[in-house]
Amino acid sequence: MQIELTEEQRLLRDTCREFAEKELRPNAKRWDREHRFPAEAVGKAFELGLGGVAVPSEWGGAGMDTVAYALAIEEISRGCASVGVTLSVNNSLFCDPVFKYGNDQQKERWLKPFARGEKIGCFGLTEPQAGSDAAEQRTTAVRKGDRYLVNGTKNWITNGPVANAIVMFTMTDLSKGTKGITAFVVDTDTPGFVRQKTDEKLGICASPSCTIFFDNLEVPAWQRLGAEGDGFKIAMSTLDGGRIGIAAQAIGIGRAAFEEARDYAKLRKTFDVPIAQHQAIQFMLADMATELEAARLLTLRAAAMKDQGLRHTRESAMAKLYASEAANRVADKALQIHGGMGYSKEMDVERHFRDARITEIYEGTSEIQRLVISNALLK
Ligand code: CAA
Repeated sequence: MQIELTEEQRLLRDTCREFAEKELRPNAKRWDREHRFPAEAVGKAFELGLGGVAVPSEWGGAGMDTVAYALAIEEISRGCASVGVTLSVNNSLFCDPVFKYGNDQQKERWLKPFARGEKIGCFGLTEPQAGSDAAEQRTTAVRKGDRYLVNGTKNWITNGPVANAIVMFTMTDLSKGTKGITAFVVDTDTPGFVRQKTDEKLGICASPSCTIFFDNLEVPAWQRLGAEGDGFKIAMSTLDGGRIGIAAQAIGIGRAAFEEARDYAKLRKTFDVPIAQHQAIQFMLADMATELEAARLLTLRAAAMKDQGLRHTRESAMAKLYASEAANRVADKALQIHGGMGYSKEMDVERHFRDARITEIYEGTSEIQRLVISNALLK
């Protein structure tokens, strides 16, 4: 596998690093504390072309690839994990399925402005009883002539409170299981699209999510993504890409925690020397750096496979599983290195510790990733 980055990929990574250092890192603590969606910073990220990094330029994107996208999400998440997931959802879970499964009319309306970053998208798969068991969809779409009448509930919808459109999944035939699931793309100002209040969460507090009710939502048939019954495969293959974004987000959070712990260890003294001179701390730093490098290699491999048009279900699951668990171990050690200060709201490391936790849950829990991997191994 080629792991040398191209000039273009390096340039994007460095641009994102500089942007994160200047615009995100100094403000992330405040946004977290205020539970505030940083619309202005997200807007600036979109101006850099981060709305649709891997979307071809003729459809409004930056025309780059998934490797570049993963590098960008890592850098952005190192600055602010909430902005990282906002971008990841728009790129991976909204633009990607519209690009892959939409027709030209749909792409004109729901890809161009979203990949350009003029609008923002979300992804409606999760329901109160359909989290890990995504096939348990209860939202129904009943065909009435040239329209569908949609009723149901989606929850934990990242970007939901601010999104202009949603890629959503419904049951068009309850008797057919996964083959009865159908996808649509719908504007959020459609009558019958009802958002609830923004969720209160442990971490990624500047990334808004909410419950959405569909109350007799009328959706014209031309807004269907793919054929009736294609929805589950659209959702699963979309998540194969999404998990690369979450793996990259986890690495970014882990790197922020690691770098802060490394710098703190050089300053903080115990027993007359900086704690970085104690082997206990040195070994922790060595393990943290090694795990993050390993996570990045897995993530870039999955991204490169996606770019080559290869099935990457197993590789994305491995990257997401390893990167998210590594980020949590790294954030835990980083907090420990900070000692009592790590437990204080004064330091950023407590935020990284909280932000890392969700990466083991959304876009498939660690347990689901292990299922996906073992299913592939035992085929
Ligand atoms: N690509 C294409 N097709 C796929 C696929 C993939 N990755 N995975 C499964 N399929 C197909 C299968 O081939 C099968 O097709 P056939 O019937 O034609 O053979 C069909 O889909 C059903 O597959 P399974 O029997 O494997 O399905 P399952 O019901 O056992 O579920 C699962 C599989 C992996 C557990 C799945 O339910 C899953 O991934 N759950 C986790 C859901 C998840 O990740 N949710 C995230 C929500 S979004 C989010 O979190 C966003 C956010 O906030 C940031």
